[in-house]
Amino acid sequence: MNEIALYEFLETEHSEVSFSRSKSGNLIKRDAMKVGILGCGAIANVITDSALKGKLGVDLACFYDRDTKRAESIASKVDGTVALNLKDMLNLVDVVVEAASPQAVIETVPQILKNGKDVLIMSVGALINSEFRAYLEKLAEKYDSRIYAPSGAIVGLDGIKAASVGKIHSVSLITRKSPESLGISADNEMVLYEGKAEEAVGKFPMNINVAATLSVACDKEVDVKIIADPAVDQNYHEVRVVGDFGELITNTQNTKCTTNPKTSVLAAYSAIKLLKSLNDHLKIGT
Ligand SMILES: NC(=O)c1ccc[n+]([C@@H]2O[C@H](COP(=O)([O-])OP(=O)(O)OC[C@H]3O[C@@H](n4cnc5c(N)ncnc54)[C@H](O)[C@@H]3O)[C@@H](O)[C@H]2O)c1
Repeated sequence: MNEIALYEFLETEHSEVSFSRSKSGNLIKRDAMKVGILGCGAIANVITDSALKGKLGVDLACFYDRDTKRAESIASKVDGTVALNLKDMLNLVDVVVEAASPQAVIETVPQILKNGKDVLIMSVGALINSEFRAYLEKLAEKYDSRIYAPSGAIVGLDGIKAASVGKIHSVSLITRKSPESLGISADNEMVLYEGKAEEAVGKFPMNINVAATLSVACDKEVDVKIIADPAVDQNYHEVRVVGDFGELITNTQNTKCTTNPKTSVLAAYSAIKLLKSLNDHLKIGT
């Protein structure tokens, strides 16, 4: 039974469950979680396309971007409302997907949490600052809200989180992208950065969310190497973790978003999966 047939079945079987049809024709549970998207670029577009295919299961209710035209263009696809500021958006939604920039996290997430709303943060680089992270956690506790950070552009975060129950000895990440994806031009392979994640996040804020996600997930400094390689067309991440549990190595070879080569499609998919999972009654994986 496909998702829509299942909804129709549930509607007839259980009269208390009711559905409405979105402009694009998809059935959405009438009390579905209302989601606002802050930052209407590459990731927002992939999420919206998923909603158009009826695969999201939440209501994309509101869109905000500092470039209002971007918000209008994406909102019109799903019959969403365009907010002119964050306050207006917060009146309309239960959860905000931040898909803008690390600076936007600093500027908006405290306000989102203080309004008792949940937030899903894509610009995870902002969370590598432990003082800021602790501040957000305190706010979330005080206002009974939740902060989610999807696994983004890498695989294996479930195992890494489990591994962190024991002692982790080392975590390393090698990111290899085309010069274009790193915002530079280069004819030959070159190491752009080698060092600790916290410093890399400061130097490549839009490109090193993976390092930040790893670091926060296992509460350990991450050794990062960023390579610009004109010979590659995709975004590569090699993660190696050594700890009491043994050793794990993951390799992710990511297709880039068409509208932003810095961003991997998998990162947007991980946000979609996390959004869907908020309603799940069965949760798989750590
Ligand atoms: N977690 C991960 O693994 C992962 C992977 C890829 C991208 N990202 C991050 O997710 C974020 C979004 O990525 P994207 O590819 O969709 O970016 P994008 O550049 O395609 O779109 C970002 C949008 O946000 C808007 N924006 C920026 N700052 C804003 C602000 N302060 N207020 C309102 N709107 C603002 C811009 O106008 C733009 O429309 C970036 O920070 C990126 O680094 C995370």
